[in-house]
Amino acid sequence: VIAEVDDACLSWLCDTDTDRLARMARRYAGAQATTRAEDLFADPDLDAILIATPVFSHFSLAQQSLQAGKHTFVEKPLAGSSQEAELLLAQAEADGLVLMCGHTFLYSPPVRTVKQILERGELGDLQFISSSRVNLGLHQSDVSVLWDLAPHDFSILHHWLGELPVAVRASGRDIAIPGIHDVAFVTMRYGSGLLANLEMSWLAPSKLRRTVLVGSEKMLVYEDGAPEAIRIYDKGVVHDDPETFGEYQLSYRTGDVISPRIDSSEPLALEIGDFVRSVRSGGPPAGHGELCLDVVRLIEAAEESLTGDGAEICPTADSPVVV
Ligand SMILES: NC(=O)c1ccc[n+]([C@@H]2O[C@H](COP(=O)([O-])OP(=O)(O)OC[C@H]3O[C@@H](n4cnc5c(N)ncnc54)[C@H](O)[C@@H]3O)[C@@H](O)[C@H]2O)c1
Repeated sequence: VIAEVDDACLSWLCDTDTDRLARMARRYAGAQATTRAEDLFADPDLDAILIATPVFSHFSLAQQSLQAGKHTFVEKPLAGSSQEAELLLAQAEADGLVLMCGHTFLYSPPVRTVKQILERGELGDLQFISSSRVNLGLHQSDVSVLWDLAPHDFSILHHWLGELPVAVRASGRDIAIPGIHDVAFVTMRYGSGLLANLEMSWLAPSKLRRTVLVGSEKMLVYEDGAPEAIRIYDKGVVHDDPETFGEYQLSYRTGDVISPRIDSSEPLALEIGDFVRSVRSGGPPAGHGELCLDVVRLIEAAEESLTGDGAEICPTADSPVVV
């Protein structure tokens, strides 16, 4: 993607895996290839570095990249702890460098369309959100399914709702590899009473990325990759005041189903394009740093609940506390 983005030139490839490096070097013959990240840090002509390595190497590589004066893009999540994420953000700000994290779904046209629908209040008051992000594999040996898949849902919900939940609760199982959770169910409670329930797993018969938003006026289904990525259902239940004590009147409303036209742009190209624009003009999109940090805080809170018998954890405290 970098090689195809306007205003950027792919000048280095780095991977400690020599086979992978050789494959990429054949494909992008104009770039220099190395197994040592230090070669990139030492190149005075290099403006920016993109890091797409395993999660727990993000902090060290990003810190060295910033220390070398390079604008830095780090794949999601920004770091392996909120403390590390805070250090990186502070370092980038102090040195006037762009630090961006690869929350690719923020550039996904359907995700952006849902945000506009919510801003227009089309769904009414949001009552609950439920999401499934499941497929078979790829099992990671060093991080749980939470560190792998939850950053997507956490960043999408943060973008849509603009706030953190007041409490996070998670349960799950480590089925294929002992100690590495490959299925997790996360429930988040927001100040407004909104509930969000997220299912994520590497053990599922087929790939599903589906989020349902239930509002007081309408309901919306967002299914990533589906031909109609967004469907808005004019459906709901109306509770009429009972005329006599103990008599409940419910009526169900079933109206039209609408699927808005969605732009087909490639999210990764939009994201990398935005990074390059930020490097040229200075500073990532407003609020980006806070979102990246909040995503790590949410993973930490969910992980703490997951390994602590499903206790409710407050992610907004300086360090997550059990509530
Ligand atoms: N935004 C997205 O949609 C998305 C999707 C998939 C993965 N990711 C993220 O991308 C990152 C990588 O995931 P992946 O699935 O590609 O992993 P991967 O293990 O397939 O690839 C990581 C590569 O990094 C190399 N590497 C490790 N340490 C290195 C070092 N110190 N210097 C140079 N190279 C090093 C490895 O040899 C390997 O080739 C993760 O942070 C993951 O969360 C993001």
